[in-house]
Amino acid sequence: MRQSLVVGNWKMNGTRASAELLAKGIITGLGSNDAAIAVCVPYVFLGNVGEIVKNSRLELGAQNVGDKPSGAFTGEISGAMLSEFNCKYVLVGHSERRTYYGDTNESVAARFSQAQAHNIIPVLCVGETLEQREKDQTFAVINEQLDAVINLTGISALSKSVIAYEPVWAIGTGKTASDEQAQEVHQYIRRYIAVKDQAIADKLQILYGGSAKPENAKGLFAMPDIDGGLIGGASLDAESFLKIYHSI
Ligand code: 13P
Repeated sequence: MRQSLVVGNWKMNGTRASAELLAKGIITGLGSNDAAIAVCVPYVFLGNVGEIVKNSRLELGAQNVGDKPSGAFTGEISGAMLSEFNCKYVLVGHSERRTYYGDTNESVAARFSQAQAHNIIPVLCVGETLEQREKDQTFAVINEQLDAVINLTGISALSKSVIAYEPVWAIGTGKTASDEQAQEVHQYIRRYIAVKDQAIADKLQILYGGSAKPENAKGLFAMPDIDGGLIGGASLDAESFLKIYHSI
């Protein structure tokens, strides 16, 4: 059985004080759920939030990692730096990074590899735009996004990773993929990996992201190939995030 996982992506939101409050609020409501839970916070809050989550089940993550080990790369943060903050997870290839900051399939693969070099679990985000979906290119786009990583790291590296399917048209738009639409792509991803390695595919956690909310989480999480969620907007409020978490 795969352990379920719910990850909050706080994106570029909050202040140090609000980040601390949010982390404390989440910890208060964790209860005895067996599913894992994490928050990917802005880099500058990793220290403060890290102190708060230290003795709790709430895990810490970052939102990106540099594609090189170190050096003259202004503005980048390395895997070694993130591991100093005890990050368990890091997002790579989020569509906002791909769309606004030029992260390519190749650089995402390098970031994935840098995370693993420091024992941080990369959460590889994949997904199609509306235009690509309408042109029936969803699976082809996802193949390319997955292949870039598999070609660089080998299929075995996926055993220490998480995949998040985030249809770009559903992110922050209020348009969630239907349970069936999401399941179709999750099943596709798992089968694509299974052709290369069945055991890895069986164990791989595949999360859904894109306008997930307390109202739609239960239906999505009930789908056989959906192992949890990557939550944006609704993770900025402890009560909503916890409702989603407890829908698992
Ligand atoms: P929303 O939940 O705000 O749509 O964001 C999803 C997302 O991008 C999580 O990484």
